Amino acid sequence: MKHIDIRDIMENGAYVGQEATVCGWVRTARDSKNMAFLALNDGTTLNHLQIVVDKATLEMPVAATHLGSALKVVGTVVPAMNGGGVEINAVSIEVLGDCPADYPLQKKFQKLETLREIPHIRVRTNTFNAVLRIRSIMAAALHRYFQENHYTYINTPLLTGSDCEGAGEVFQVTTIGYNTEYKNAEEYYANDFFGKRAGLSVSGQLEGEVAAMGLGKIYTFGPSFRAENSNTPRHVAEFWHIEPEVAFAELPDIIEIAEDMIKYVIRDVMEKCPDELAFFEQRFEKGLREKLQSVVDNDFAIVDYTTAIDQLKASGVKFEYPVEWGLDLQTEHERYITEEIYKKPVFLTNYPKDIKAFYMKQNPDGKTVAATDLLVPGVGEIIGCSEREADYDKLVSAMEARGMNLDDYKDYLDLRKFGSVPHSGFGLGFERIIMYVTGMSNIRDVILYPRTVGNIR
Ligand code: 4AD
Repeated sequence: MKHIDIRDIMENGAYVGQEATVCGWVRTARDSKNMAFLALNDGTTLNHLQIVVDKATLEMPVAATHLGSALKVVGTVVPAMNGGGVEINAVSIEVLGDCPADYPLQKKFQKLETLREIPHIRVRTNTFNAVLRIRSIMAAALHRYFQENHYTYINTPLLTGSDCEGAGEVFQVTTIGYNTEYKNAEEYYANDFFGKRAGLSVSGQLEGEVAAMGLGKIYTFGPSFRAENSNTPRHVAEFWHIEPEVAFAELPDIIEIAEDMIKYVIRDVMEKCPDELAFFEQRFEKGLREKLQSVVDNDFAIVDYTTAIDQLKASGVKFEYPVEWGLDLQTEHERYITEEIYKKPVFLTNYPKDIKAFYMKQNPDGKTVAATDLLVPGVGEIIGCSEREADYDKLVSAMEARGMNLDDYKDYLDLRKFGSVPHSGFGLGFERIIMYVTGMSNIRDVILYPRTVGNIR
């Protein structure tokens, strides 16, 4: 269907005075005796193109004023009558698809909760138009960042026989349903597709490390799956995960990379999506653009876990969960650190080894590991990061201490046997950084189809 993107018409002055064909959905319609004004949107921009219909010269189909109707309009592009920009004086209107009155988007503003019930329709709102375009721009920026810096893009398996680090969080994959004819679990799994228990990957890290030991710098960008029973505004069961893995990098090096990457992506969104950011600032987060500018302009804080515990204790705040060295931080603590104490992104480093994963490099103090989480105001943790334990014996002892089956990790241990090097990596939750950049406060509103406990369509 030959037509011009509404974005091109609105951004490129060259169309003024020309006849053009546009397609789109009717967002608002004002109809009077002699004239009609239709706001058309085709999804290429947040802005609507005004279609002006002079009823004396054009017989307008009735359905053209129905909210949500799909139209093909031919007309002359002219400077807009009020304000800047352009509009189209229609010479013909074809209704491609009528939209009856039970179309759910009749009101100008709908609650986000209500829209979650209609994921197939909510993409037609300004909010989701903006969220999904920013998501796309950010994905491209992340790829560009890594490609420009000589990282190789790796696709790690989604079906896995090991559970990486996620005890109890793995979705099981099976081709045989419940069946009482098997004597025990062992026999059941032996008869299943892979001949052993299999699941969906919670992280591509272990395979990413394999790739980094040959390619030096790699990154993954794909879905991870977690069967966490946490019904929070920050968790989904299927999220998109960016995981770089870098050989010859220690913790300070990977922290530098993570900060550089975040700033690159934010700069790119600020340059490419000014309309969307203005929209989010107006609707969802006051001061959003100033916040993003300040992230780009300033260094992130780097704070030791032990220091943070002392600061939380000294704060005098009554937290719901206890604050004690050795305990994991809860969202309320993370948010206090980044929102109240530092008021900017914070890399929290050197966590107690017992609350972190087996593969993290053990610090000389024997108590902590070279790990860091990046915490940001409003969202909390967006990155989990560490230097990896590169010493074979230390890694084996950490695994044994956790009762892990070493046979399942033979490949991984081999990496420490054959030319082991210091190396580090991190996982960035794509939806979490989109929340931070857009000011959207619920992760369910930054992904097309959120999967959460008890919710799959
Ligand atoms: O901190 P996590 O669990 O780290 C790992 O998976 C490491 N293997 C990463 C690595 O070193 N390669 O997860 C990394 C990030 C979190 O900081 C968070 O942003 C995101 O993944 N994440 C989730 N996002 C949405 N919903 C969930 N259920 C998430 N779980 C983790």
